[in-house]
Amino acid sequence: MPEKISPARGVEGVVTPPGDKSISHRYAMIGAIAEGVTTLENYSTGADCQSTLGCMAALGAKIERRDGKVVIEGGALREPAPLDAGNSGSTIRMLSGILAAQPFTSRIGGDESLSRRPMQRIIAPLSQMGASIEARDGKFPPLTIHGRTLHGIDYTLPVASAQVKSCVLLAGLFAKGDTIVREPVRTRDHTEIALREFGADIESVRGVITLRQGARLQGRDEIIPGDLSSAAFFLVAALLLPESNLLIHAVGMNPTRSALLDFLASMGASIKIVDVRQTGGELIGDLRVRSSKISGGVIEGAMTAALIDEIPALAILGAASDNGLIVRDAGELRVKETDRIAAIEKNLRRMGVRVETAPDGFTVPGKQRFHAAEIDPEGDHRIAMAFSIAALAADAPSIIQGSEAAAVSFPEFFSTLRHITP
Ligand code: S3P
Repeated sequence: MPEKISPARGVEGVVTPPGDKSISHRYAMIGAIAEGVTTLENYSTGADCQSTLGCMAALGAKIERRDGKVVIEGGALREPAPLDAGNSGSTIRMLSGILAAQPFTSRIGGDESLSRRPMQRIIAPLSQMGASIEARDGKFPPLTIHGRTLHGIDYTLPVASAQVKSCVLLAGLFAKGDTIVREPVRTRDHTEIALREFGADIESVRGVITLRQGARLQGRDEIIPGDLSSAAFFLVAALLLPESNLLIHAVGMNPTRSALLDFLASMGASIKIVDVRQTGGELIGDLRVRSSKISGGVIEGAMTAALIDEIPALAILGAASDNGLIVRDAGELRVKETDRIAAIEKNLRRMGVRVETAPDGFTVPGKQRFHAAEIDPEGDHRIAMAFSIAALAADAPSIIQGSEAAAVSFPEFFSTLRHITP
């Protein structure tokens, strides 16, 4: 569906982003294997998180909507019909950890984009734990997972991936012996927090996470913070457009996710954090953001992993900044929902913006202007939303083709955008 975006002088008002996608997946999976009832408030409205609920229901969890909350009655899982993870890498990678330890065989796959995403990264550690997994060409979905009795391992992550870390920890819940995951580069720790909340014995010390065997998980009531990665598009819009003043309400402020705020501040962004509070193990805050003069910056090393989902939005800000944006060590972007380096390059060029790419990154010089264009997000939600923000700063109306891709994480994105642009 094409969406027309007209230029705007600013964004103004209050935005409440959807519930955090990463946290929603984890609570849904853990709620479904915990004993008793889990009630989730502000569960992500994104299609990816509905895929997770669909899979958990197919595995026997009783899932209902009550007063806008997701209510899950968990317990033992049962052999499912083929599971559909849709577009969601988080669903297939994290859930495979649980499936590998069940007393049945399951099959899990997804859409065309998901079918191209690498699974070797989870097959390798799960196989070390004793799992039996078949994959298309040995590495792609769909996966056929023959449940086995697993044993704990001591595993050092070869790629900085919270999905892989979470997969191993979720498998570890069912394994004999303790499970240790070592992460050389820090990634989001929502799984560690969620497992602790639901009653697991888990500790994390300087990148070494130890899960002790034999956890009995108990259902809980949780409030899910707003998604900072979804809020990122509005943060960038407010910083970019000259007459902006936006309040972003109830957004997640977990330190393993909030590198975005530090990075934007280092470039001169005016963002005030107001009223931080805690919910479960997670932090929530409100952000006041105003139009700012942005200097530019470099994203590399551990910072790349910490900002991986925000890089499409930051590429747009970089082009309008004084000194531009350099992104390095970001080969992972090539295996996201689409090859995001190629998609950023193609669409920036369509807007008349110069960009140079490398196998693991790109450079966007600063002080550039956006020209109206037809954008092709290639089915990738974050590309669709990032270029919608670029279109707000363009010289005439632009068209976002396939704009429905945004619904993967943020179905209300375009209606929210209309609400904050005069
Ligand atoms: C996610 C981790 C990241 C991120 C994805 C969600 C998660 O992927 O890009 O959108 O919820 O754990 P990787 O862990 O593969 O880097």
